[in-house]
Amino acid sequence: MQLKGKVCIVTGAASGIGRCVSDLFAEEGATLALVDLQEESGHEVASAINARGQGSARFYACDVRSVGEIRGAVDAVKSDFGRVDVLANIAGVSRRTPLIEAVTEEDWDAITSVNLKGAFFMAQSAYRVMLEQGHGKIINMGSTRAMVSDEKHVVYDATKGGIHAITRSFAVAGGPKGIVTNTVAPGYVLTPMTEHNLNNDGWMGHLRERVPIGRMVEMREVAEIVLFVASDRCGGVNGSVFVVDGGRMAHD
Ligand SMILES: NC(=O)c1ccc[n+]([C@@H]2O[C@H](COP(=O)([O-])OP(=O)(O)OC[C@H]3O[C@@H](n4cnc5c(N)ncnc54)[C@H](O)[C@@H]3O)[C@@H](O)[C@H]2O)c1
Repeated sequence: MQLKGKVCIVTGAASGIGRCVSDLFAEEGATLALVDLQEESGHEVASAINARGQGSARFYACDVRSVGEIRGAVDAVKSDFGRVDVLANIAGVSRRTPLIEAVTEEDWDAITSVNLKGAFFMAQSAYRVMLEQGHGKIINMGSTRAMVSDEKHVVYDATKGGIHAITRSFAVAGGPKGIVTNTVAPGYVLTPMTEHNLNNDGWMGHLRERVPIGRMVEMREVAEIVLFVASDRCGGVNGSVFVVDGGRMAHD
């Protein structure tokens, strides 16, 4: 039980990697505050965890594009549980954008408002609670797209580059105060959002050529790294990037 007695906020908990992390944290005994925009699925994830009887979960509806909603959710978690030991900052949108010359203000705002502004203010709100208590762990969800790019994701890539930078600032500021911040950076992960690629021969050919393990990473494989970083087994690590990409970044 690596997270027994730990109060953990997981954002993006209603789907994909965030949901998988929530389930794994619950298996490890965490007291979970699940945050997401999608109320129905968020409540379902919390109910399923509570029904299994390992760990416990409460859902907090929150649109991370609103700083007011973030503050409200974190205040509610603090009032319900008294502290925040871990923030797994996972909520994000990953949509393609047009070619650089055609990117619109709407494209920019739609992605940065969640992935960059939302992630920053969520981390800041948890950090303020962690400052009061003198300890905490923040895990931000980055991406290999912070480091490599194609021509179809310029805005998304910028947000993930920003996340990696935000992690470093929090690590430097928080380290002396007992708060460590790290990034987990997945490559291609098999999620409900990406599974359609399994039927795309061209894309699968690209994957096999670029990713040495020859497949997408499983959500559980990402979640296991998030768990390790969140747990007491991971000490002395601050401001680091944990890449989970099947070797994609190692390939020339
Ligand atoms: N899937 C991949 O291959 C991959 C690779 C690298 C990084 N990531 C990152 O992992 C994270 C999760 O991605 P996923 O593939 O599981 O996607 P997903 O769409 O399955 O899950 C994202 C979750 O974030 C929530 N969310 C979106 N906007 C929100 C908002 N405004 N307020 C609150 N919640 C909001 C969604 O409701 C959803 O539950 C993202 O940050 C993504 O950038 C994913």
